[in-house]
Amino acid sequence: MEIIVVETTAELGRAAAGYVCDQVEANPRTVLGVATGSSPLPVYEYLAANPHPDFRSVTCFALDEYRGLPATHEQSYASFVQHRISEPLGIPSARTHIPSGSMDDADSACSEYENLIQSAGGIDLQILGIGRNGHLAFNEPGSSFDSRTRVVALTQDSREANSRFFPSLEAVPTHAITQGLGTIQEAQHLLVVVNGHEKAAAVSRAVSGPVTEEAPASMLQRHPNVTLLLDHAAASLLPLTTPC
Ligand code: GLP
Repeated sequence: MEIIVVETTAELGRAAAGYVCDQVEANPRTVLGVATGSSPLPVYEYLAANPHPDFRSVTCFALDEYRGLPATHEQSYASFVQHRISEPLGIPSARTHIPSGSMDDADSACSEYENLIQSAGGIDLQILGIGRNGHLAFNEPGSSFDSRTRVVALTQDSREANSRFFPSLEAVPTHAITQGLGTIQEAQHLLVVVNGHEKAAAVSRAVSGPVTEEAPASMLQRHPNVTLLLDHAAASLLPLTTPC
């Protein structure tokens, strides 16, 4: 695992954007996996604000979506991807895929999403964050390393963490559709972006703890091509890093 520690959130964005640009320059038809949440925002903002390769032939897949929110809801991940990623970078809407959170037949929505990823040839570069409880996408502790796209119940901790985006905790959906850990593991390159003290323990478990389904991000230790980009706060519990 390649681990890079930088000083600021802006530097995280710039460093991660460099990997995305290199990938799209090398292959304009890249299949890009995109994470939502606050951690990867500086990556998308840096890309949008600076010269970047043409994204018109890129296909993107979101990791997850709240169950029960219409795509038009301002806190849906469909809205996030449209407004923060696809539109600013110029990825056509026909090439922008988000699991459907509102389809009645959730099992069909999940299998269709898996099929869509397969038909696109699989994900070349997957951007990821890590939840403070160690989740990847919405794969909560206890998720199988072999899991595929499915409906999951959100833990109280994840709902509390995301309640900052909603008017109240009660307004945070209780379920989501998420790519599974098995699905995520199939991406060619995982680019993980994490910042802040509240993620330090999850980062430490991901990098140097036992590989266990109780710590979903420890799955990263099983993947052959991971780049972990951290600020000093997120890296503060790793061995051999300078405390800040
Ligand atoms: C969110 C998303 C994840 C994200 C994680 C961390 O709820 N489902 O894909 O990586 O939790 O989010 P943040 O970066 O906002 O801390």
